[in-house]
Amino acid sequence: MQSILARPAHVPADRIVDFDIFEPPGVEQDYFAAWQSLVREDGPGIVWTSANGGHWIATRGEIVRALWADNVRLSSEVLAVTPGLGEVMRFIPLQQDSPEHQPFRMAVMKGFASRFVVAMEPQVTQVARELIDGLIDRGSCDFVADFAEILPLHIFLTLIDVPLSDRPRLRALGSQLTRPDGSMTVEQLRDAADDYLAPYIAARMANPGTDLFSRILSEPIDGRAWSEDEARRMCRNLLFGGLDTVVAMVGMVALHLARHPQDQALLRERPDLIPDAADELMRRYPTVSVSRNLVTDVEVDGVMLKAGDIIYLPSVLHNLDPASFDAPETVRFDRKLNATRHTTMGVGAHRCVGAGLARMEVIVFLREWLGRMPTVRLDPDRPVTMKGGNVGACTALPLRWD
Ligand code: HEM
Repeated sequence: MQSILARPAHVPADRIVDFDIFEPPGVEQDYFAAWQSLVREDGPGIVWTSANGGHWIATRGEIVRALWADNVRLSSEVLAVTPGLGEVMRFIPLQQDSPEHQPFRMAVMKGFASRFVVAMEPQVTQVARELIDGLIDRGSCDFVADFAEILPLHIFLTLIDVPLSDRPRLRALGSQLTRPDGSMTVEQLRDAADDYLAPYIAARMANPGTDLFSRILSEPIDGRAWSEDEARRMCRNLLFGGLDTVVAMVGMVALHLARHPQDQALLRERPDLIPDAADELMRRYPTVSVSRNLVTDVEVDGVMLKAGDIIYLPSVLHNLDPASFDAPETVRFDRKLNATRHTTMGVGAHRCVGAGLARMEVIVFLREWLGRMPTVRLDPDRPVTMKGGNVGACTALPLRWD
């Protein structure tokens, strides 16, 4: 809801923009261009919108990154600009601040240790192959619904070691998360996720196995066991954190390939480039933005932000800022990126714990998709559509092949 009256006294008039993160202008056609419409050469590095309760948005790459890494003056408690969402979700470790955050994060990180990610690769490969083999003869698909939304669900079920027959139930939840149709409130969505997870959490706490939840919940927190409430909030965080983000990323990678048949050909010819290609595509197509609430007054770009203000940090405006990356919109597989330099997976204390898993999923997708499919192109008769929000994504990606 837009209202100029929502502008607090400390917001200079020349910083005000008319911008709703859920509906940036033209987002249906192009998420990236929609966000870049906010950036002007020599324009402000931080702006204020009165949409969604009123919040700041960092628009210059270096400011996005520096504030993202500042976990002293900025807190993660608020979770998102959606008013009230943080109080509903209470994610662990995502919404915790230091020092409370550390022991929980350590426990979750141990659960995602790289040996477990490596061990998962054959299963991810198998799922990707089955999905692709089910598509090949059709000659066309909507990549979002037919592939991108299904892969991370399978992976999540495998991670927590539950039967694949749970898929329809989790799928329904996942679609509400990635493409909410307004039929559920966020409280109902949280409760549905909790109801789904509850029996597994109870079982893993009583009798730990070797699955992800068991591994994390067996790690003591400051020498004590996890409480039920903490376990629920952590498992909820993993479920919500690992589905729509991967859907969005795999969708963008497939979109890039469909638009650039020469890159399909190059990676088929040189599969050794695939890991670097995965890193570069993840840099080029970031769609996660985070929100922080200020715990103290902070001066940014010549403006005094007040304690309690919310600031929105869009990864897209860091990764696609020419001051942060040379020719940022060009995909170059030889960039030799340091994956922690870009902010697709975040930066600082909360950097994604699933980053290794997500990267492996993208690599496996590239390898299997290019290895099994003929040249894939966009369907000329049906448009690609995208959405904005805290995780932007393709909502439809119609593809064709011969
Ligand atoms: C390409 C896919 C993914 C992207 C783009 C992504 C992005 C991010 C980002 C930007 C953050 C930092 C949030 C912040 O600073 O507030 C984050 C944190 C997190 N992610 Fe991911 N993520 C992905 C996949 C996953 C997966 C597969 C999982 C788990 C199954 C996961 C679980 C988490 C968790 C638990 C955190 C919170 C870490 C903390 O607060 O210490 N993510 N992710």
